[in-house]
Amino acid sequence: MRIFLTGATGYIGSATLEALLRGGHKVTAFVRTREQAARLAERDVETIVGTLGNPLSYGKAAAAHEGWIHTAFEYSDRGPEIDGIAVDALLEAARAAGGGCLVYTSGIWVLGHQRTPADEGAELNPAAMVAWRPAHERRVLDAAGGRLRTAVVRPGIVYGGSRGIVGDLFKDARNGLMRIIGGGENRWPLVYDRDLGDLYARLVTSPSAAGVYHATDEGHERVIDIANAIADAMNVRPEIRHMPLEEARTKMGPYADALALDQTVVSPRARALGWLPSLRSVAANTSRLFEEWRRGTE
Ligand SMILES: NC(=O)c1ccc[n+]([C@@H]2O[C@H](COP(=O)([O-])OP(=O)(O)OC[C@H]3O[C@@H](n4cnc5c(N)ncnc54)[C@H](OP(=O)(O)O)[C@@H]3O)[C@@H](O)[C@H]2O)c1
Repeated sequence: MRIFLTGATGYIGSATLEALLRGGHKVTAFVRTREQAARLAERDVETIVGTLGNPLSYGKAAAAHEGWIHTAFEYSDRGPEIDGIAVDALLEAARAAGGGCLVYTSGIWVLGHQRTPADEGAELNPAAMVAWRPAHERRVLDAAGGRLRTAVVRPGIVYGGSRGIVGDLFKDARNGLMRIIGGGENRWPLVYDRDLGDLYARLVTSPSAAGVYHATDEGHERVIDIANAIADAMNVRPEIRHMPLEEARTKMGPYADALALDQTVVSPRARALGWLPSLRSVAANTSRLFEEWRRGTE
């Protein structure tokens, strides 16, 4: 299948790229710089250089595909606005192509606190940081029809390799000080990067896949248990400092409230597609994950 992928250099996008290449698909990666394009070209990946906010840089090229996977996100004040521009441009490209499948990346923070396991039908209660996101999900879902299939993925917090929130915990642990918000009794929905990449590949290629998909390993792990397990995996045990939510808000803004969410999120729709996460826990896999983190940072 010919697939147009945004964010191919990112955490989720690079895992998705690997899964698509493993599946033998022809991928066009949309990237920001010529250097990124040159690196991907070495792996037989076609590239388009441009920027999400300027659809003229990719709209026409994107239309020459059968699948579109949007994982890019610009972390700036204009991020949500630019995401909306990209969603419209990719939907336009999909229509110009006469249909296919478009997969959009949302996230579990749109669910807010979920103290009993939330499936894809759960009511949304987004954290302030992602209050804009449900409207983008809706735009993608409502665009389906005729020969156009659309899917929204809500990944848990991604782990694996050297990036992301869990990657930062490994970094802090090695530097001797981990900070967690409050007591850390809140639970994080999580997903291993390679498993997530596999799910994207499955969604874009499965003719019946459409609608919302949670992507979580269903480990329902408490933050304090993850922090303790990572601390135990270090040669020298780091200090774990508990930061009151108010102080975290002052330092991080609305990101603090997202990290403090207590969420249990299940993924029955992805499971029904035959998706079976290979890892089900951060705490139970810290040796392997630390090794991945170490290799990724060298
Ligand atoms: N990571 C998680 O735990 C997680 C969990 C749930 C949902 N999500 C969501 O998933 C999405 C991707 O997250 P991520 O962790 O993969 O982020 P990431 O590692 O920061 O990757 C972002 C990607 O977007 C690209 N990008 C940024 N601005 C761009 C622009 N203006 N034009 C074109 N490309 C641009 C980046 O390119 P460069 O390499 O050039 O910077 C990079 O490839 C976000 O919407 C995030 O909210 C993430």
